[in-house]
Amino acid sequence: VNSRPLREDAGLLDIYLRVLDDQRNEFTIPGHKRRADLLDEGLGRLVDGDVPLFGGLDTIKQTGGALRRAEMRAAAFYNAEWCRFSTGGSTHANQALALALGRPGDVVIASRSLHRSMLLGFVLADLLPVWLPTRIDDATGLPIGTSPNDVAAALESNPAAVAVILTEPGYVGTTSDLAVITELAHRYDVPVIIDQAWGAHFGAHPELPLHALAYGADALVTSTHKLLVGYSQASVAAARTERLDRHRLDRGFEATETTSPAGTILASSDASRALIETRGVELFSHVLSLVRHARERLRDEVAGLLVPDENTFPSHRFDPSRLIVQLAPLGADGVAIERQLLERGLSFESADRDTLLPIITVADTNESVNHLLDHLIPALESARGEPRELLPALSWRVNPVQVLSPREAFFARHERVESAKAIGRVSAELVAPYPPGVPVLAPGEVVTAELLRGLLDVARSGVRIAYAADPTLSTIEVVA
Ligand SMILES: Cc1ncc(COP(=O)(O)O)c(C=O)c1O
Repeated sequence: VNSRPLREDAGLLDIYLRVLDDQRNEFTIPGHKRRADLLDEGLGRLVDGDVPLFGGLDTIKQTGGALRRAEMRAAAFYNAEWCRFSTGGSTHANQALALALGRPGDVVIASRSLHRSMLLGFVLADLLPVWLPTRIDDATGLPIGTSPNDVAAALESNPAAVAVILTEPGYVGTTSDLAVITELAHRYDVPVIIDQAWGAHFGAHPELPLHALAYGADALVTSTHKLLVGYSQASVAAARTERLDRHRLDRGFEATETTSPAGTILASSDASRALIETRGVELFSHVLSLVRHARERLRDEVAGLLVPDENTFPSHRFDPSRLIVQLAPLGADGVAIERQLLERGLSFESADRDTLLPIITVADTNESVNHLLDHLIPALESARGEPRELLPALSWRVNPVQVLSPREAFFARHERVESAKAIGRVSAELVAPYPPGVPVLAPGEVVTAELLRGLLDVARSGVRIAYAADPTLSTIEVVA
């Protein structure tokens, strides 16, 4: 067990803590100067920990170089040549990479179960996606990523493609065979970009998958605030520069990053990296044992429940720290269970009719996990109903007919029509059940009857339909 204070391995965290203890008179923004308590105690507490990058962790002229040093330590962790810490989430980092890839009108080969942030990156950069289908595991109905054969075929028919872009792991923790896919893409000298928002802990423990660059990818983006200990919005982008241009990466990153980054967020990415480098094995042994315990209790105490683990999926292609509870064989309704547990102060990362995803992290304990199970297990028992077939969620089954590029459709003149009249028209908007935030309908794609029926079913089941101009889907915005 490493008991050294984390600040010794995370320079930004060290400076952050020193600034908090310091009574400097700052004549810089933010305007609250961490003295908003002079105006109102509640406001004071709100801004207490808000140390900016400029005028906080470093001077406005960046004379200290503290951020650069922290980014270089993260680059070393990833064995990367380029690394930047974002305060705009993996949303910003994904879009930064999209802006660094090609030229307007260039083709990218991308997984259709990508996150909406990357698809909007295609709008910003005017990239034309050639979509790769999401493969489904027959036994569970869960997505298992992209098949290398699909990537090979797409590379063969799109020799001018400027990147292969995948989301790894997918939302339930499964991954594609990245080593094979990167090898294939590199034969064409095409860079592989990985949205690893849900894999900030990858590489921290021998039982976890490696991070994407270790499988040969050219760039990755990860949300340190998701499965590590970053502050909300903290994200890291790292890249090798053999097939990517360092200056384009910087330009893409700067294009939409704020000029007033929160030092708190940046220091938390540094601390996240230091935490897994110094204590990763110890902490994730603990997380893995908590998750195994949770699976055992669920299986033992709720007959018929399906709780996949690393043996369910192809070897080394699942994050064993992810707990997935599949309800279809039990006939229970996940949205109703979520509602019931919310009333007791327990929430899930995701709950739809068929699947519950409680997130267990380094911040959990035996007590916190048993507390969840003590409420969840009786709720599952009492929700038992008619067993249902294991069907993949709509988000994993999208197979779009693309008529216009995402950018053309985004900026096209559009009109709002009743959804029944939208069938056969070209969508101007992006519609994504959330979570997982995968666009089921994207700008430039045809609204089909099947898709609309699917989205209405998802909405009726109690899942939020995000980003639609009309979340009830009575109307849809289509290209005029
Ligand atoms: C696969 C994936 N990529 C990117 C993002 C965006 O991450 P952030 O919330 O850090 O902006 C998410 C968010 O859920 C995601 O699931």
